[in-house]
Amino acid sequence: MPIESIQKTLQDLKKILARHDNAYYVLDKPEISDAQYDLLYQRLLQIEKAHPEYITSDSPSQRVGGQPSGHFKTVKHAVPMFSLENAFNQEGLVDFERKVNDKLAAEIIRQDSLVAYAAEPKMDGLAINIRYESGRLVQAVTRGDGSVGEDVTHNVRTIRSIPLELLGVGWPSILEVRGEIFMSKTVFKQLNEISLQKGEKPFANPRNAAAGTLRQLDPRIASQRQLSLYLYGWGEISGDWSLPAQYHQTIEQFKTWGLPTNPDAKVVYGASGMADYYDQLQVKRKDLPYEIDGIVYKVDVLAFHSKLGFTAKAPRWAIARKFPAEEVWTKLLDVEIQVGRTGALTPVARLQPVSVGGVMVANATLHNLDEIARKDVRIGDTVIVRRAGDVIPEVVGPVLSEREDSVRLFSMPNRCPVCDSAVIKEHDKAVYRCTGGLFCPAQRKRALQHFVSRKAFDIQGLGDKLINQLADLNLVRHPDDLFSLTIESLLGLDRMAEKSALKVISAIKAAKETTLARFIYALGIPEVGEVTAKHLANHFVTLDNILIADKDALLEVSDVGEIVAENIVTFFQQPHNQEVINGLKMAGIYWPTPQAQKKTVDSPFAGKVVVLTGSLMQISREEAKLLLEGLGAKVTGSVSAKTDYVIAGEKAGSKLTKAESLGIPVLSEHEWIEMSGVTNG
Ligand code: IVH
Repeated sequence: MPIESIQKTLQDLKKILARHDNAYYVLDKPEISDAQYDLLYQRLLQIEKAHPEYITSDSPSQRVGGQPSGHFKTVKHAVPMFSLENAFNQEGLVDFERKVNDKLAAEIIRQDSLVAYAAEPKMDGLAINIRYESGRLVQAVTRGDGSVGEDVTHNVRTIRSIPLELLGVGWPSILEVRGEIFMSKTVFKQLNEISLQKGEKPFANPRNAAAGTLRQLDPRIASQRQLSLYLYGWGEISGDWSLPAQYHQTIEQFKTWGLPTNPDAKVVYGASGMADYYDQLQVKRKDLPYEIDGIVYKVDVLAFHSKLGFTAKAPRWAIARKFPAEEVWTKLLDVEIQVGRTGALTPVARLQPVSVGGVMVANATLHNLDEIARKDVRIGDTVIVRRAGDVIPEVVGPVLSEREDSVRLFSMPNRCPVCDSAVIKEHDKAVYRCTGGLFCPAQRKRALQHFVSRKAFDIQGLGDKLINQLADLNLVRHPDDLFSLTIESLLGLDRMAEKSALKVISAIKAAKETTLARFIYALGIPEVGEVTAKHLANHFVTLDNILIADKDALLEVSDVGEIVAENIVTFFQQPHNQEVINGLKMAGIYWPTPQAQKKTVDSPFAGKVVVLTGSLMQISREEAKLLLEGLGAKVTGSVSAKTDYVIAGEKAGSKLTKAESLGIPVLSEHEWIEMSGVTNG
């Protein structure tokens, strides 16, 4: 390929991948399947591998780049980052509105006209300033003390919703955008589960987790932890662009450049509008995918901002209304033990049921023995319960003034409360573990629940309760047993009529087609999460390659360190794991192999001359071209006797007619995607 066309192809691929990252991570509307995305990404990697001199910093392959540095650089903000004034009740807002109205008296022409406010959830994370120069992300700096922050560019670059290069057109040559970096509730929960399994101290809340992640020197950690961002402001802007008249329009403009913005923001009018929004958000709060600690209101008209100005610490045109802390007192009735998938014993507080922020709480994790000792909670204590992060109830500590003599200290059992196997304390770690392995019904159940979960085999209708029943009745002992379940075996279980049994069985059947990455993840190898599983699948391509890989081979995979490599090797050495894998193979589990990773000669398009015509529905013409080239095809613009295939989308015209007259095979969009093996994964 000539140099210009290599560069052009790379540029096209980067643009396309950036657009799909935006569709997936920002707009939440993926346009292509994971497998199609992977294929495009692999194509980019192939070309970059062959021509490393053309790798640029805005390539998606360079999100995790460079060697970790030994320290953070401090950076002075071009425009200081202010904080917010707080209001703790509606009076505070009424007061704020009055001050705004007084200052703007001359501008508010009619007596009854209300000032418009942009209302946004107040995300509980950390403020960041991201600088784009000529559309390219060059620096990301934390708020710090407001005038000087820390350079965390290496970690912010790993956030997939943040474009390395702005999309669209018309952005100013220097654009600093500001927003909150946060960790979603789901990612936070998973991260803490992993920490607990590893015997590490869990993060107290998503905010700490986000802060801890951003303060890592090694960007690989941030890239695994999936942070998010929503924008709510800007810093320096210079160049050929002028701010819109209103705050909300500015944020909308940022969105068109591919920057993530909060979908729950809204323009409201006056103190009563602010109150309505507050009420709505309070109801919605528990269903939001991220943690919020209040609402922020900002005067919408930007011309008013300069009229209102700043105090020493905060703008006079904005205010945060904080939610009251949701803490209540209740009795700690008992501490029970839960046995996790890998045997880790977690103490769980059984509480006198109590409503915290509108949700009944009867259990709360106590994490581990160290945590119980640190908090000094005892069975029988009156304890303070908080819904930390709004999702996970947490015992804050005892109310010592209420402590009675009858309270008891909790101790870890020597034997597993479920299977009676010995319990060991892991060296150097706070974790106690049941040694029963898959002999332990609790571990078996958890393993099965993991196997059918959304990111693993994604078998709908097989909820935790059903899995527990199946395990208790010995209908299913290992994951492969799931595939020999019949409708008859399900009938007779709790709440299982013929229709639901049929549904479950067909869901199990449908789940037989999966991807290698999901398969590996589903096995539940300690510390092999979704991302590592993906990397393993991409690296080794086939299961057999993974099964025979030794530690050195595994260490070549990105994200795989000593411990994970050892876990993988040990896992596959266990005879019972080998049996399960064989059982799954026998049950007919399969996955399509991505064609691009096979030798291209295997592809039905290898060496073929292909013409694309008409408009394709699933992917753009440009992407189709790149995919086909990845499969070894030569894509040309006109139909001739040398053409092997014509791929015709909607409204195909003269090229289709010509192909038909020459007797050249014509494929529909659906047909060629099927043939290429790039089906949904
Ligand atoms: S505006 C000058 N909007 O809250 C304006 N801040 O308590 C400053 N925050 O430092 C920020 N969500 O870290 C703004 N929608 C939002 C916010 C938000 C969260 C954080 C931000 C800020 C802190 C102030």
